[in-house]
Amino acid sequence: FAFTPENRKWAEAQLTKYPEGRQASAIIPLLWRAQEQEGWLTRPAIEYVADMLGMPYIRALEVATFYFMFQLVPTGSVAHVQICGTTSCLICGAEDLIAICKDKIAPTPHTLSADGKFSWEEVECLGACSNAPMMQVGKDYYEDLTADRLAEILDALAKGDVPVPGPQNGRFASEPKGALS
Ligand code: FES
Repeated sequence: FAFTPENRKWAEAQLTKYPEGRQASAIIPLLWRAQEQEGWLTRPAIEYVADMLGMPYIRALEVATFYFMFQLVPTGSVAHVQICGTTSCLICGAEDLIAICKDKIAPTPHTLSADGKFSWEEVECLGACSNAPMMQVGKDYYEDLTADRLAEILDALAKGDVPVPGPQNGRFASEPKGALS
């Protein structure tokens, strides 16, 4: 693994943002860029980032395995679907969403669909509890989901469309009434 020339230049610019001797603090953005380049974090990619930051591979691996934003096995070429399975989403139907993922993508998480386009996993709270149940795809949140709507979104993504993210039932958080009065 090696960064593309463009990514290498970007990564070197990141290192200048940290005090001398503290370049290891750039670990998360560099791992993220490596993942964006490859689709997931291979061992050579983690080693490359560790080398760039002058830190042992095991320390970079510790970071990569701590955050579920980092994928350590291959992900779908179109989308890696992260279904929140924490309390609010669980109460509001996360199990129905997971059933759709098992049916339409693969019976087990972190497994590629037959066509290689999709993968899925259950994750902890993504901070959108008021619009449960929800999922994250890349940088997008899809909220207020139903099983049927999730199936539609997956079909759209497979065709190359990108459904509008956000609440899927038209509900948006309202301003607190009288907050300033
Ligand atoms: Fe699902 Fe918080 S419980 S976003």
